[in-house]
Amino acid sequence: MRIAIASDHGGYALKEYLKGHLAKRGAEALDLGTDSEESVDYPAFGRACGEAVVSGRADRGIVCCGTGIGISIAANKVKGVRCAVCANAFMAEMCARHNDANVLALGGRVLDGETAAALVDIWLDTPFEGGRHQRRVDALNDM
Ligand code: RB5
Repeated sequence: MRIAIASDHGGYALKEYLKGHLAKRGAEALDLGTDSEESVDYPAFGRACGEAVVSGRADRGIVCCGTGIGISIAANKVKGVRCAVCANAFMAEMCARHNDANVLALGGRVLDGETAAALVDIWLDTPFEGGRHQRRVDALNDM
């Protein structure tokens, strides 16, 4: 599995940590920047990650900023992206099970690396339930 990963400066350290975690899982990380803690604007990075997923260059995406919020808004502007900001295990499970989230957003100033990695695992390992949730996801995709 190839996972596109992008951040701004607020999520840079978390992105770097998660790249190591993805390698341990045997997943390939497609790093779309940023490359340091120098201040950058998150919209371009969220968009790049979303576009990588929708184009098929990556199977899934992970975006990180300070809170996960700004970069998730950017990713969700790309048609076909279902990006979910998650701060706990329940949210990570449900965004996979019910929302079929194809991009996960995490806050580098909210979560430590170990917690964030656990949320990544839950998100990747939880199957989409389909059924009534498929109809809702289809409606999202039509927007
Ligand atoms: C950058 O200071 C910060 O605003 C950004 O990382 C993010 O938290 C925005 O949602």
